[in-house]
Amino acid sequence: MLEGKKIVLGVTGSIAAYKAALLVRLLVKEGAEVQVVMTPSAKEFITPLTLSTLSGRPVLCDFFNSGSGAWNSHVELGLWADAMIVAPATASTLGKMAGGVADNLLVTTYLSMKAPVFIAPAMDLDMYSHPSTVRNVEILKGFGNHVIEAAEGELASHLNGKGRMEEPHNIVARLKEFFSVGEDMKGMKILVTAGPTYEKIDPVRFVGNYSSGKMGFSIAEECASRGADVVLVSGPVSLDCKHPAIKRVDVESAREMYDAAMAEFPSCDAAVLSAAVADYRPAVQATEKMKRNSGAMTLELEANPDIAAALGKVKTGRQRLVGFALETCNGEENAIAKLEKKNLDFIVLNSLEDKGAGFGCDTNKVTILTREGKSEYPLKSKKEVAKDIVQRLFRLFVLFFLLLLPLQASADGEELKAVVSLNASKVQGTNSEVFKQLEEALDEFINNRKWTSNTYEEVERIDCNFSFVVNSYSNDGSFDCSLMVQSSRPIFGSSYSSTAFKYEDKSIKFSYQQFDRLEFIEENLDNNLTAVVAFYIYLIIGMDMDTMGELGGSEFLNRALNIANNSQNLGDAGWKAGSSNNNRYSIIDDYMNGAMEPIRKMMYKYHRLGLDTMFKDAAGGRKEITEGVALMKKAYEDRPLAYFTKLFTEYKVDEIVNIYSKCTSDEKKSVVETLSNINPSLSSEWDKITKNNNY
Ligand code: CTP
Repeated sequence: MLEGKKIVLGVTGSIAAYKAALLVRLLVKEGAEVQVVMTPSAKEFITPLTLSTLSGRPVLCDFFNSGSGAWNSHVELGLWADAMIVAPATASTLGKMAGGVADNLLVTTYLSMKAPVFIAPAMDLDMYSHPSTVRNVEILKGFGNHVIEAAEGELASHLNGKGRMEEPHNIVARLKEFFSVGEDMKGMKILVTAGPTYEKIDPVRFVGNYSSGKMGFSIAEECASRGADVVLVSGPVSLDCKHPAIKRVDVESAREMYDAAMAEFPSCDAAVLSAAVADYRPAVQATEKMKRNSGAMTLELEANPDIAAALGKVKTGRQRLVGFALETCNGEENAIAKLEKKNLDFIVLNSLEDKGAGFGCDTNKVTILTREGKSEYPLKSKKEVAKDIVQRLFRLFVLFFLLLLPLQASADGEELKAVVSLNASKVQGTNSEVFKQLEEALDEFINNRKWTSNTYEEVERIDCNFSFVVNSYSNDGSFDCSLMVQSSRPIFGSSYSSTAFKYEDKSIKFSYQQFDRLEFIEENLDNNLTAVVAFYIYLIIGMDMDTMGELGGSEFLNRALNIANNSQNLGDAGWKAGSSNNNRYSIIDDYMNGAMEPIRKMMYKYHRLGLDTMFKDAAGGRKEITEGVALMKKAYEDRPLAYFTKLFTEYKVDEIVNIYSKCTSDEKKSVVETLSNINPSLSSEWDKITKNNNY
């Protein structure tokens, strides 16, 4: 994600400047180009030589190069960069940046910066909480900068508190997140309502509620970061929204929110209604401040419009509507009633009975209810909850388009005709919804994707099975599954099919939360599940092509090999090179090893020349298979430990016994000898060839 990105790293004079070295290293490791700019006092804490060595570029500190007299152009840096990070940022630099005090190259570079700026403050806890620092941070946020809050912990002063610069790997993660803007919601427009509404009693008083708006703002940010255009209609909150794709409409009362939402909704694909709208407003709003009377006072209230219900009435067939329910008792029952009453597609229930959920806090614990069922989520940050909700919304559109465009959808997945199953019977008593979702997501991932640029006719697709069995699962989403992968080829001119590949992967460890998207980026493998599945898909396609033409599957087998090579640090034993002769890595590594070329040639002889001609010309077909077995023998002798040779004899045993039971005793003798060498554990099967007298 940071590959090729140009980053200006501003380093200021703080003890935490030493962390800049690691930050540069991590950025460079991610493929970014880093230009370091230091303040004069930063040089007291870390040498420019360290940072220039790590970044591979001279560090800039002064307005002019003291040797050549050349001007160090902050203007050019401002245009060159894709992002600027100021880390660590001292209180003094924050003040200068906020106030535009341009007395060093770092601040002039900041003032000339056209790219987004990330600021990671570092200072003592009292300095960090001082009102002037707090104000400067707010000003900088208000300018649209991304402030990476300092963390809590032991400080240079040995005091404990908030002020430690965020760890470099977390800063890099923030940057990656920023640049990983998905585009899957591009072209969509989403309306979000957020915050409370204030209903005026008189010029200085109102009826309102405690909503902070955090949930709605996180949803708006999430939609925008996935490429959608967002209209955020917000009640009075003290939050900023940073993303340029968010159009913010500030309102105060429920009626203003209603007007804004009704005006925007017709051009939107969906609305997420997270606002805590006041159901009632004072029937009369005094124009002057109301005076205290000696007796009690009665405030007459009248009903506000129900925005969700009004949108539910005008919703078209292509639009989706998501509501929230904040309940103090009978949560699910009340939420389902609201779903129906307001014509919502799903409703997000947060119960005030749950600790850490609801108004004000940064976390939330939600249950999503649809007409079909419910999904409960653990306590998460509101940002994470927003991801879950938006993903759920996005899936509604995916399903809609799949239903609407069945032809295009099926044309997408061309190579495989895969039966995908996930058996979770070993892990009883856990959330079964997550297994259903994972099975669906896997099916979609495997079958609705184009894995090659080749065209496959319906009848040419590869029949295969991906059968997962869940060995263990825990509620945080960690899975350990086994996977049986099998593919087969129809034999020409017959109704018989022959297994081309079959293997049981005993343990795949991965993490999956309900509604996670299964993503696979071949150049950046960071999800073990999709890496493993893509690996087997390329292996199946490649082996299938090896059966169609001699060494025909190289392109795809090499892709499987690449995945195995690039997955070494995914921490899954199945990828580990040199640790076993029968894990994923060694299967493909052996198969593509030059010494094993005979076995690849065997795949062609055996399946295409042998099996295909078997029914046309028995002797001819058998001859090819015999030659195939001889190739297998050669591969075995050249690389005796290669597991695939043995594996092949295992899943082909019945077929081989059947074929050779019908051949001459000379043929039997050589074939049985070879097979017994390759796989002695099946000798009783091979003996059947000799014993069966079908010739
Ligand atoms: N909502 C709305 N307009 C209103 C009231 C609620 O758009 N005037 C929306 C909220 O944004 C939320 C959903 O309707 O998405 C449910 O809000 P809630 O206040 O829980 O429901 P009410 O219908 O007001 O029911 P009650 O207050 O009686 O629980």
